Amino acid sequence: MPNSVTEAEQFEKIRTKVFHGSETAVQELASIISDLIRQRQSDDRRVVLGLATGSTPVKLYQELIRLHREGGLSFQNVVTFNLDEYYGLSPDHPESYRHFMEVQLFRHVDLPPEQAHVPDGLVERDKVFEYCADYESQIEEAGGIDIQIVGIGRTGHIGFNEPGSGPDSRTRMVALDRLTRRDAARDFRGEANVPAYAITMGIGTILQGRQILLLGWGESKALILRAAIEGPETDAVPASFLQRHPDCGCYIDQAAALSLGLLASAKNLSSDSGTRIIPRTPLLLFWWRPARPMV
Ligand code: F6R
Repeated sequence: MPNSVTEAEQFEKIRTKVFHGSETAVQELASIISDLIRQRQSDDRRVVLGLATGSTPVKLYQELIRLHREGGLSFQNVVTFNLDEYYGLSPDHPESYRHFMEVQLFRHVDLPPEQAHVPDGLVERDKVFEYCADYESQIEEAGGIDIQIVGIGRTGHIGFNEPGSGPDSRTRMVALDRLTRRDAARDFRGEANVPAYAITMGIGTILQGRQILLLGWGESKALILRAAIEGPETDAVPASFLQRHPDCGCYIDQAAALSLGLLASAKNLSSDSGTRIIPRTPLLLFWWRPARPMV
């Protein structure tokens, strides 16, 4: 076995970096992004970023805003495509992902508005197929995604690609999993108010990004991250398809790493890390649930 293989890497199928806290992780992530933006600026070229919403990327966006304000980082040469949007929500709905992006990032940096793309949640039902194909074309015309940010849902979804989503799936309308809707219930003041459908980039679309950064914080993501990073590639855990990407890195904090084999090996963290070593829980096989029918 080559010396360069660490003990942790014997378990991982996605290169994984565990940080003491998300604060340090986002500094590294923001510098990967800002280095590319600056390098492309000096070559007079654009950067295409694939963006996620939810609680996971918030601190990363705060760090990018800080770099804009204090470090002179400009977003003039940046084009963005968001992963997904709830179907039926208008851009100014407080829970829409367009609104989230405006509040968390767009309005704080000098990204030209016409260069920021978020799927439209109000496309008429009979135009959705065409709209999704056009979203894909726009990504291609922009030159393809250079860096794709993804979070992971407790169903194993990336974007809104719920269990049952295949590796070749493209931008499309999907039905949201019950667990996803339950997780969103607090934001919508009740599960009944959470939209049943969404428009999402597909797994195949995500896998076309040149570099993928998978982020995860907190113990609630520990089991599903283990399934994605160490389990088999399966459409029961759509994030596991990231294993086949040549440049996907997973950035997680210690709480999110608690179920990983690398922690169970208890060798790769320093003794002063303060990490609780918990016994490995058996890798549950995630049950396959058939996708719900489209509207
Ligand atoms: C959001 C998205 C989702 C979230 C995932 C995790 O654009 O694509 O896949 O990344 O649901 O959500 P949080 O970060 O809220 O735990």
